Amino acid sequence: MSWPPLREELAGLEPYGAPQLDVPVKLNVNENPYGPSPACVADIAAAVAEAATTLNRYPDREFVELRTALAAYLSRDAGSGQVTPEMVWAANGSNEVMLQILQAFGGPGRTALSFAPTYSMYPEYARDTMTRWVAGRRESDFSLDLDAAHELVKREQPSVILLPSPNNPTGTALPPEAVAALCAAAASYEPCGLVVVDEAYGEFRREGVPSAVELLSEHRNLVVSRTMSKAFAGAGLRLGYLAAEPSLIDAIRVVRLPYHLSALTQAAALAALRHAPELLGKVDELRAERDGLVDWLRVQGFEVADSDANFILFGRFVDRHAVWQGLLDRGVLIRETGPDGWLRVSVGTPAETTAFKDALIDLRERGDASPVRSKDNITGRRRPAEADRAQLDTDVNANQEKA
Ligand SMILES: Cc1ncc(COP(=O)(O)O)c(C=O)c1O
Repeated sequence: MSWPPLREELAGLEPYGAPQLDVPVKLNVNENPYGPSPACVADIAAAVAEAATTLNRYPDREFVELRTALAAYLSRDAGSGQVTPEMVWAANGSNEVMLQILQAFGGPGRTALSFAPTYSMYPEYARDTMTRWVAGRRESDFSLDLDAAHELVKREQPSVILLPSPNNPTGTALPPEAVAALCAAAASYEPCGLVVVDEAYGEFRREGVPSAVELLSEHRNLVVSRTMSKAFAGAGLRLGYLAAEPSLIDAIRVVRLPYHLSALTQAAALAALRHAPELLGKVDELRAERDGLVDWLRVQGFEVADSDANFILFGRFVDRHAVWQGLLDRGVLIRETGPDGWLRVSVGTPAETTAFKDALIDLRERGDASPVRSKDNITGRRRPAEADRAQLDTDVNANQEKA
């Protein structure tokens, strides 16, 4: 008898996640390296203590106060439009927000689509909701070929298109024309597809790169998701959210579990939002640190993808695993992910950047970080074909990232 009695397509699959190792310099999961100030910690603690006094009661299922605060925050990026509380939804991390989107709008007989290399949780949301998964490809500079993307959307008629901007693991932001064109393409068939722009790293975008929040009033099939995990320095809080037309929010409310956002989470998130200027205050520093590291890596002769996020994809290495291991041996944990030969490093404090640079230079001087030459066969380790059994696009899935 087979045990455990799992769904057949899940048998043998490993839960995937970045290694959580205790090392001096952790630059592997795109966290914000700066923790909250003592004043912010005290405010969060007081808010949670207050919420604890009524833990015998279920929390506000509609978390109206939190949605109101998130709407006010998002309205800053809405251009001439406005985000209202009825347009906002939240859950325990944007991973859960997007799973709920697939639960409501995906499902058997429906298709979810993205463009690889991209965030590796996307095919997992599809697998877990029995949604068919299709992945198109990005160009060699990781941008989207809009004509090809348009054609793929028309052909596959996806119910949900997942577009991270900036993309993980490449850092590539999408221009508003691309979002608008894909919204129009997804609106051209019946039932209309949704375009989900995943702005988990949106606050780190470079000057002049607009947020898709600006486009919400123009496309009723557009959803923009965000998280407090990155720019807000709240990865441990587990609070992701989205903005969309109120009818889409009502549809998601059908699939959410009752009281999915605990009273403690709501209280802590509200307190953190009151400290938004402080928590977001490090974003400019991190963007400057990122741009400096991109320049430095290029001066050192590495290939570097342009980044609008708080991480950088760089390479390419003949044996990226050896480079990853060499850095780890020197106390610096980065992420072995992306297309073969590439590695991803999160942007940390100046001291962490220095540790990373020193370790990389040391490795190179010892000949252990050779860049790829055109004749080289790259031996980047490929991911387990977790998607095989779920009938996903394994070729694409092998090069995706989760964290
Ligand atoms: C592109 C992207 N979207 C969403 C998430 C999920 O973030 P969270 O669930 O912490 O909000 C991540 C996490 O790294 C990500 O890289």
